[in-house]
Order: sequence, then structure tokens, then C-alpha cells
Amino acid sequence: MSEPFSARLRAATWSDHSSAEQTTFLDDLTRGRLTVAAHAALTAQHYLVYQVLEEAAAHWSGDPVAAGFHDDALTRLPALAEDLAFLLGADWRDALTPVATTAEYTARLRQVAFTWPSGFVAHHYNRYLGDLSGGQYVARALARSYGLALGGDGLRFYAFDGIADLTAFKDAYRARLDAAPWDAAEQDRIIEEVKLAYRLNTDLLADLGRVHPNPFPAEVVAQIMRHMNDDHPADSLLICRATLPEPARPDATAAVMSGMDNRGIEFQAVIKGVETPIRVPFAQQLTERAQVRVEVTRLYREACALLGVPAR
Ligand code: HEM
Repeated sequence: MSEPFSARLRAATWSDHSSAEQTTFLDDLTRGRLTVAAHAALTAQHYLVYQVLEEAAAHWSGDPVAAGFHDDALTRLPALAEDLAFLLGADWRDALTPVATTAEYTARLRQVAFTWPSGFVAHHYNRYLGDLSGGQYVARALARSYGLALGGDGLRFYAFDGIADLTAFKDAYRARLDAAPWDAAEQDRIIEEVKLAYRLNTDLLADLGRVHPNPFPAEVVAQIMRHMNDDHPADSLLICRATLPEPARPDATAAVMSGMDNRGIEFQAVIKGVETPIRVPFAQQLTERAQVRVEVTRLYREACALLGVPAR
């Protein structure tokens, strides 16, 4: 028996999936290296895409094949509107400016998803099966990183309350892909359209990465580390000592900065001759490089006050 279409589709597009999954923007966003404004920006772009995709779903509601793929429980637009109102306030519609790729994406949807039923299915599969799969991982990471409640305000887009069993739903969706009356040539066209959809999603995320870059990429952290370790080793030691319980403070004899992110700075301290990692949280999440100097100076002054050392 030949390979089911759903398996062929997945295999033929999995490298395109990897490109979408591994964008720097999504990585930075899910790891909490950006701000909630970046999450709001992605939500706004989603709104623009789903506006057209769900208009197309309504357009095909009487089609014997295309209609079978949509389900009211998938509809995302009301959840996106609620998320945007929560994240941006009552004026959220002012933020609905498409980045370049979103304009290209919605133009492509208008071009194919209202005239070619399987073209609609290609885009439908790409977004909704992704939301039901990796989207669930993304939601958990966003909840953790930006202090949002999973399935609650700001994250309703990722919550499919009307679908009790996501795996069973996806299996039934794949069964519909397998049962659809498409010949090999039509299946090939669908695969090409799904590849294009992945490319549009990858490029959209790259566009957002240019608007919301990680303020502390590896090369910036390396520069800050070099500066701290060349010019401020004694200050690093004071900051580390101040984090220790009072009797242990004299046991710390050296410290070098070993890393940082937007929430804290890390050192390798030598305590009783043993290299020991110490992480000191910042008072707030930093969003730009200039804040690092201010925050490290504050930590240094607080350490001086605690240890009874005169500050410079
Ligand atoms: C951090 C980002 C992502 C992660 C971790 C991720 C992870 C996954 C995983 C584990 C699956 C397999 C689930 C299963 O077989 O049940 C999957 C499937 C899928 N993902 Fe993603 N994904 C991510 C981003 C994306 C993006 C950006 C898109 C495109 C818009 C996308 C579209 C899809 C689709 C269409 C499937 C279904 C493939 C199939 O089984 O036919 N994913 N994803």
C-alpha cells in the first residue's frame, strides 16, 4: 500500500518546518529574552493572518471537501482580539500594521485560498496543525517567560477549549487528508503550497526579529564580560560576597563574570578554593544594553553598603 498522503506531506515539508521552528525570534521570545511587547507584536501579526484564513474558511463552508477540514473549535480570531485587548488595551486595532511578510502572506491567501479549495486546505493545515502541536509548547514557554497564565489573558490564542483531545483531533485531521479525493498531481501542488506557507511563517518571524532583537546576544554578553573581568574584578567579588550569608563572606576570594541575560548576571566565585557559580538577579527585566551599567553599579553600591566598604 502506498504511503498515506498525511505522512508524505509531513515528510516532504519537515525541513521547512525546522526552519520555521528554529527562527532566532521564536527562540528569543520563548526563552524570555524579549519583552511582552514582542509577544503582542506576534499576536497582532497572527490576527492579520487569521482574519483572512478564517474568512476563507467561511467562504468554503459549503464545499464538500474543504469544509470538512474546518471546525468551529479551531476559530482563533475572537481569542486573538481578546489577547490583543489585554496586551495592548482598548486601542489594540492601532497596532495592526502588517510587517512586510504578513502583507505578502495575506496577499497569497487572498490569491489562492478563495479560489482553490486545496490551496485553502494547505494553509489551514499549516497554521492549525502547528497551533495544536508546537503552539502548545510555545504557549507554555510564553506563560513561564512573561508571567502569563496558560490558557488565560494574553494566551487565549493557544488554548483550544473546544477540543478535548488534541492528539485525537490531529489524527482525525490527518485521516481526512488521507481520504480526500486528490490525485498525485494535486497532492504535489498542495505540498508546494505548504512549503510556501512555512516559508512565509519563517520570514514573518524573521521580520519580527528585526523589530524586536534580543538586546543581549552572545557578542554583547562577551563584550560586557571582558569589560567586567578586565576592569572590575574587585567589584565582582564584592557583589558575590554580598550574596553569601555573613559568616561565609570572607571565604570568597575571587570572582569573574561568567554570563548574563536580561534578568541577571552570573559569576564564577572562588569560595574556600572551590569554583562556585553565583547568579545575582537584576531588580527588573532589562530591555537595553545601557541599563546593564546602571544595574551593575546599583549591585556594587548595595554590596558596599552591606559589607561596610566605602564605594568609589
Ligand atoms: C517553537 C516552535 C515550534 C515547535 C517546538 C514545534 C514543534 C512541533 C512538533 C513537536 C510537532 C509534531 C507534533 C505531532 O506530530 O503531533 C509539530 C507539528 C507541526 N508543526 Fe510545529 N513547531 C514549532 C513551530 C511551528 C511553526 C512556526 C509552524 C508553522 C506555522 C509549525 C507547523 C507545524 C505543523 C503544520 C505541524 C504538523 C505536522 C504533521 O504532523 O503533519 N510549527 N510541531
